Amino acid sequence: MKKTMISHKVEQMPPSGIRVFFDLVLGMKDVISLGVGEPDFVTPWHIRESAIYSIEEGYTSYTSNKGLVKLRTYITQDLKKRFGLHYDVDEEILITIGVSEAMDLALRALINPGDGVIVCSPGYVSYAPIAELAGADVHRIILRPDNGFKVTPEMLRQAITPGTKAMVFNYPCNPTGVSYTKKELSAINRVLERHGVFVISDEVYDELTYDFSHTPFATLPGARERTLYLNGFSKAYAMTGWRVGYACGPKEVIAAMTKIHQYTIMCVPIMSQMAACEAVIGTRKPVEEMKREYQRRREFVVDRLNGMGLSCHKPQGTFYVFPSVKKTKMNAMDFASRLLKEKKVAVVPGTAFGPEYDGHIRISFATGFDKLKEAMDRMEEFMDEI
Ligand SMILES: Cc1ncc(COP(=O)(O)O)c(C=O)c1O
Repeated sequence: MKKTMISHKVEQMPPSGIRVFFDLVLGMKDVISLGVGEPDFVTPWHIRESAIYSIEEGYTSYTSNKGLVKLRTYITQDLKKRFGLHYDVDEEILITIGVSEAMDLALRALINPGDGVIVCSPGYVSYAPIAELAGADVHRIILRPDNGFKVTPEMLRQAITPGTKAMVFNYPCNPTGVSYTKKELSAINRVLERHGVFVISDEVYDELTYDFSHTPFATLPGARERTLYLNGFSKAYAMTGWRVGYACGPKEVIAAMTKIHQYTIMCVPIMSQMAACEAVIGTRKPVEEMKREYQRRREFVVDRLNGMGLSCHKPQGTFYVFPSVKKTKMNAMDFASRLLKEKKVAVVPGTAFGPEYDGHIRISFATGFDKLKEAMDRMEEFMDEI
């Protein structure tokens, strides 16, 4: 195919730095991967069983574009119960192919060419590319370790221009694990409110918050009408492959997103939606057990990394840590490549999240405890040898 057939935007878009590195891992034997952002657990049995049962019963059709009424009802009831957050079942929620589709729809529904969109760096790798595909002028706020990788009201004040339309916000954050207290979020909200900035809030790790309770952005004073709340089942329920997420927000935004969704996707597969219904209303025991296990691993990994001289913040949520490798005097790519070659441990170089993070790596502790221990032992050996 001639290169010229590809749109300029897509042609200029770099491939995901995570993929580029993990292409190296493919085909290597005995590698312990701490790279993937995916639970090592299988979806809890009661959820799988409900999907199997739905297929046996003949649920194989399209659903409403917006998603099964039953699922929308369960989710909105759950949000009301957990956070006092009310969304209308018919007009204020859309079931999507994971948070990924919800984010894409949101940006395409909101952005006119040249509108400003703020994203925080380091952040989830897809935000900036999909915002750019939607025509946005992306402004990255560079977060630093000396500030605990947190965005502050002052940073926002400096980043907002008259052209800023929206901010993509994610907490707990991939890749740093940083989250925000209600007080911190309120201060951020006040700045965004003053400047009329719409918030697309990716809270897919909300149930994996360890040190304090999670506050949805939409629950902050005056925020509900300026916020799109995105969440899904991939992480806390170990349901990455089912591809179910949702967006809740003002009805005109949901209607605009639904228009794009109905032309491109039609609906989320019915069996996945049936599984998600069970995830919301069924027992929460397995989710709580997984969370406890992530917490145990978090303590272990943070201790081990700091112990071997890779200075590391304790993440308040998610299953990631973002330690510094500066002490080794290697850049992130060299560190990750040598660690892979010499010790067969795969981590993500921080540069996958922006050139500023050349001194960091991302480690996922969504890996079984024994493997994690083995990986930490190998990393310690590596640190002793270099
Ligand atoms: C912050 C963040 N948002 C969204 C996603 C994608 O979620 P989903 O599987 O719901 O599309 C990920 C996956 O790693 C993520 O880390």
